[in-house]
Amino acid sequence: MTAIALGADHAGFLLKEDLKAWLRGRGHEVVDVGTHSTDSVDYPDYARLVAEAVTAGRAGRGVLVCGTGIGMAIAANKVPGIRAAACGDAHTARMSREHNDANVLALGARNTPLDTAIAAVEAWLEATFLGGRHARRLEKVAGLERASRGEHADAEAR
Ligand code: RB5
Repeated sequence: MTAIALGADHAGFLLKEDLKAWLRGRGHEVVDVGTHSTDSVDYPDYARLVAEAVTAGRAGRGVLVCGTGIGMAIAANKVPGIRAAACGDAHTARMSREHNDANVLALGARNTPLDTAIAAVEAWLEATFLGGRHARRLEKVAGLERASRGEHADAEAR
């Protein structure tokens, strides 16, 4: 796989560091966009860096860590083309790939023990998008994104 972009705010910094070591130990190339300490920062800044690394192709996928995973997912999902999933275990992480083709995984450092976070990342990296009916549904999700930009399906058909 191509590189994995990894980002966190202050609440996610320590888990990010642990995940970075685990990922590199498994042979993954990691692009660490920060933050680089526990000094307080704003999670959207790092969500944006990871999301744009993925949409620009500098990374194949991204992993984000904040206190809950929620803020990172909300922010990353504002970037067109990003499907970020806040997951708290291996099952939801796997499903986010199989059914939702999530290209960003968001984790909560304050509610996810390290072994659970590693299991979630491992399941997420190993799982494959199943396509079929899920692809049809994701096309509808992409339609919502186009509509929010003022592009409408009927206009595209004309
Ligand atoms: C920081 O205190 C916290 O709000 C942030 O890490 C995240 O959990 C937001 O969703």
